[in-house]
Amino acid sequence: MTTSPLAQPHDTVQVDLTGRTALVTGAGSGIGRATALRLARSGAHVIAVDLKEEAVREVAEITGGDAVVADLSDLDALDALNLSADILVNCAGIQHVRPIEDFDPEKFSQILRIMLEAPFRLIRRSLPSMYEKGWGRIINVSSVHGLRASEFKSAYVSAKHGLEGLSKVVALEGAAHGVTSNCVNPGYVRTPLVDKQVADQAAAHGISENEVLEKVFLDKAALKRLVESEEIAEMVLFLCSPPAASMTGTSLVVDGGWSAH
Ligand SMILES: NC(=O)c1ccc[n+]([C@@H]2O[C@H](COP(=O)([O-])OP(=O)(O)OC[C@H]3O[C@@H](n4cnc5c(N)ncnc54)[C@H](O)[C@@H]3O)[C@@H](O)[C@H]2O)c1
Repeated sequence: MTTSPLAQPHDTVQVDLTGRTALVTGAGSGIGRATALRLARSGAHVIAVDLKEEAVREVAEITGGDAVVADLSDLDALDALNLSADILVNCAGIQHVRPIEDFDPEKFSQILRIMLEAPFRLIRRSLPSMYEKGWGRIINVSSVHGLRASEFKSAYVSAKHGLEGLSKVVALEGAAHGVTSNCVNPGYVRTPLVDKQVADQAAAHGISENEVLEKVFLDKAALKRLVESEEIAEMVLFLCSPPAASMTGTSLVVDGGWSAH
């Protein structure tokens, strides 16, 4: 017997998304990839959007969905694609760590475009068809940094706090039309984005990657482990399930207790 590449032993949320279309940004890697695969395993037709062509095409091949290669920092090009879906997962993101006085203003602007303005454009495009159907799910992959600040991450923290606000406004406007809007807020997740930061910090401080994980990344978390992408994907799926129908304008925090401080 051959195993489907979609098969996963740890799927727990049961929801049938047959007939639904799900658009996932940042679907080429990490949380976005795990989410795209998870939504497809639940029957959704997945539109995987990413900058990385090879990665996003591989995801589309596995899910049997569509691949869209797009740079989300190019807002007008994104608008021209006229993308919309029943489930929109805004997940693409990048990090840049510098003190404010050394933070390149263009980098700041790029991060805001990718992580706040692109979600706004995609939400704006998706709402009319969601309203028409009387059902829609907007899921914004925010962060513990949507709720708490860390030094040297001015653009990222600003974008995520902005995304939290946008998500709440969408919740208020969409409620009468069967549309919910929520954030999922991970602490540190084992993904290439974090692997790179761990490696950079280990090199910068001349210490091992394990030490960086324990002393820097997991310092504020009560649970001393990285979250797995599949755990976040499961939260996204939960927000698409019937028991979550009354959850809107809120943030589902999966941060190992970081924000309990
Ligand atoms: N990894 C973590 O610890 C963590 C924690 C909290 C929140 N998050 C959030 O989760 C989301 C996904 O992060 P991840 O860790 O999976 O990262 P990742 O680097 O593994 O994946 C991000 C994906 O976004 C894509 N992307 C980046 N810029 C893009 C652009 N301009 N246009 C199109 N696609 C672009 C990348 O190509 C990549 O495939 C991000 O929004 C991040 O802020 C991650």
